[in-house]
Amino acid sequence: MDFEIRTSDRPVPDGEREAALNSPGFGRTFTDHMVTVRWDEEHGWHDGRLEPYGPISLDPSASVFHYGQECFEGMKAYRQDGGGIALFRPWVNAARFNRSADRLAMPTIAEETFLQALELLVTQDAAWVPFGESESLYLRPLMIATQHELGFTLPSHSYLFVVFASPAAAYFGAGERLRPLTVWLSEEYTRAAPGGTGAAKVGGNYAAAFAAQRQAVAEGCDQVVWLDSTEHTWVEEMGGMNVFFVLREKGGSRPRIVTPPLTDTLLPGVTRDSLLRLAPELDLEVEERPISVPQWEELCASGRMTEAFACGTAAVIAPIGRIKGAGGKGWTIGDGGPGPVTRRLREELLGIQYGRLPDPRAWVHKVG
Ligand code: COI
Repeated sequence: MDFEIRTSDRPVPDGEREAALNSPGFGRTFTDHMVTVRWDEEHGWHDGRLEPYGPISLDPSASVFHYGQECFEGMKAYRQDGGGIALFRPWVNAARFNRSADRLAMPTIAEETFLQALELLVTQDAAWVPFGESESLYLRPLMIATQHELGFTLPSHSYLFVVFASPAAAYFGAGERLRPLTVWLSEEYTRAAPGGTGAAKVGGNYAAAFAAQRQAVAEGCDQVVWLDSTEHTWVEEMGGMNVFFVLREKGGSRPRIVTPPLTDTLLPGVTRDSLLRLAPELDLEVEERPISVPQWEELCASGRMTEAFACGTAAVIAPIGRIKGAGGKGWTIGDGGPGPVTRRLREELLGIQYGRLPDPRAWVHKVG
């Protein structure tokens, strides 16, 4: 697609950008530009632009405000050890974006156009990619329904695709500050049911998760652990992250990383998939199998589960130290601190993403 380029005549002053890069946090400051592309039935995807970052004007009747047709991705651009900037497995995000769009009866976008939009933005706002350890430029591609009509007969006839960017630090700390998470077992609420939108990255899933997340924070926890919608016992995921367990079977030679199998109620994370592929090369066994809450507690009590961690683009790999649930339920995993398998996988993944380690699978996609 040919993009019209309209650069900002009022970019964020250098001093303010440097201040933002010195302490990026997560999703608090935004770069100078964004990319937009429009879709309607007559023209398909058209009117691609790189333009100054700023508000989007929509009528109150726009479909997204009422019926929530919205999907998004979370991606990062990393400063490479040898110079330059790279994305990580962007084609996987492009494919998932289209699956999410399709689930909400929205149009798909050519994967090449999706990637072109990201490359354009990262190249234009390259000065915003942070330099610090575990820091990156977080990229948010999204699509919203823009039709001005309240009828609920057919999906919207028009859509807007946007990509914008924000300098980001590690979501839960990095290096020696890798703080173990305390997580809340959500037995009152469920995130997704069979046939629903759990496997799609859509805003509605996150909107429905806030009540449980608020409860988790009130209970002194960092994140929610979502359980299956039928029995409320099988661990599924953590809202913005997938979950892994580290098991050391008695007499077993190698540690095993276990994660719930993909179903239509949990998000197929890019980090999850990358770890399943990397682990065998690090002498770890891998297994996708369901784990229930009683099994989780018992495996920790017997000492067979030594570690657990959350993983996702924003979270990277974050150790889980303690579980809490209703009625005073609670237990600690291992010694409650980040374990060696968690640290090893994190170093390996970050090493590839930042160009410090070889990349035999060509996961790293250089930009510019
Ligand atoms: C991501 O990891 O990119 C996400 O979208 C998760 C979100 C909770 C920050």
